[in-house]
Amino acid sequence: MLVHGRDKCGKSAPHDHGPCWVVYGQYRHYTDMTRWKRLDSGTAAGHAELTVQKQFRLNAGEAAAFAKGDIHAIAYGDDTFFIRVTGGDVEKQKTLRFNLEKQTVEVEDRAQRPR
Ligand SMILES: [Fe+2]
Repeated sequence: MLVHGRDKCGKSAPHDHGPCWVVYGQYRHYTDMTRWKRLDSGTAAGHAELTVQKQFRLNAGEAAAFAKGDIHAIAYGDDTFFIRVTGGDVEKQKTLRFNLEKQTVEVEDRAQRPR
């Protein structure tokens, strides 16, 4: 899906887009973006430690790009509208989803997500 209009506020867990880059373009209101950096070596299966690399607010008229593998999270308020463009169909990819409290990472097959 390329265009996201949200009636209700929401937020995502830290995640990547697998092999896809992504550009978020803000149309209405704002989205708070967090860019995360991974601290562990990635060698312990299922374990991940993240630290905040950058936090910023994407206001209407602004855009933000994340490269392949960049870990990010988004949070938005009610009645927010943004456009997401990905390099390939990310909803058919396996991507990483992180749990900050548990310091875990899992592979999510987005093709299996309920629609
Ligand atoms: Fe994302």
